[in-house]
Amino acid sequence: MYYENVLAAIGNTPLIKLNQICKDFEAPVFGKVEAFNPGHSAKDRTALHMIEAAEKRGDIQPGATIIEATSGNTGFSLAMICSLKGYKCVLTVSSKASREKIALLRSMGAQVVVCPKDAAPEDPRSYYSRAAHLSEEIPNSYYLAQNFNLDNMGAHYYTTGPEIWEQTEGKITHYVCCAGTGGTLSGTARFLKEKNPAIQIIAVDAYGSVLKKYWETEEFHESEIFPYKIEGLGKTIIPENIDFDVIDQFIKVTDKKSALRARQLAKNEGLLLGYSSGAAMECVFKIQEQLSRDHVVVVLFPDHGSRYLGKVYNDDWMRQNGFMGKQPVDSNYEYIRRIYKTYKIKTRRYIRQTLSKVSY
Ligand SMILES: Cc1ncc(COP(=O)(O)O)c(C=O)c1O
Repeated sequence: MYYENVLAAIGNTPLIKLNQICKDFEAPVFGKVEAFNPGHSAKDRTALHMIEAAEKRGDIQPGATIIEATSGNTGFSLAMICSLKGYKCVLTVSSKASREKIALLRSMGAQVVVCPKDAAPEDPRSYYSRAAHLSEEIPNSYYLAQNFNLDNMGAHYYTTGPEIWEQTEGKITHYVCCAGTGGTLSGTARFLKEKNPAIQIIAVDAYGSVLKKYWETEEFHESEIFPYKIEGLGKTIIPENIDFDVIDQFIKVTDKKSALRARQLAKNEGLLLGYSSGAAMECVFKIQEQLSRDHVVVVLFPDHGSRYLGKVYNDDWMRQNGFMGKQPVDSNYEYIRRIYKTYKIKTRRYIRQTLSKVSY
């Protein structure tokens, strides 16, 4: 048995029971682990469906340049698909994306344009504006615009939704999923609600994003926006791919708790997953009280942890951001080393201060 090419291996990701981390839950909780896609994220599905739908419509010509504004994962999937299909790939990325993510995009042959993370979407320096501008400049180019391209949602309506329905034999009662462009959440949720309107759809948002407030008020609140650390989750614009009507609860999670949950998933479940997977897991804990034995929870984990080795899985980064305290002293050697280090710093400072007072 073999696949015709790597694109044929996209989708049909496993549903894995979370036995350790959720051992105190009354309901079984299953993770839909999208890291099993060949590009290691759910965006393989989105990118493939958006490209193939555009090909069918005749919007993409042979030798075209595909352009996209991406937080990294869509870019990686696109770079993979473009290299197989013979398209050039130009990606504009926020400087918030980890260095590993940017290196991965370049390694797959994409041209990467890094744009300042704090530029507002309408600012010409933002990664959205740059992508739109490049699509006007580059001949025979096609801008996918995943926030507004409804084929994004379609990918999950036709694949992720049916897979979860079949894998749970129709028993799913709660679906927990991050909202960025909204494609993964809305496409899957639409399919599931068509099968059983009682299924609870729980959307996960970040503090610093406008999405939850928009769902509550139907108004864009700029005051909600501030920088945050989780990648891929939340938005500072309202994407057309979010179907706000299918959402039953919108829950915000913090940078710190999401990072700690990601680490817990790695340590307790053997699942090395991305930062937003930690966010989704944290959200499951926030609904724990609502769950009983009759429920079946599915939480979607969007990507793999290898893209966050310099962040969530780096103790120094965790400490710098105040997500972890100082390392506990766990041996005599470590204790003595710390005292020696402090002594050395103090001695150096003393010598420097003394020398600066000496006049020759
Ligand atoms: C790591 C990660 N998590 C979550 C999301 C959100 O998925 P969606 O855009 O389908 O809402 C993204 C989207 O880029 C992502 O890259």
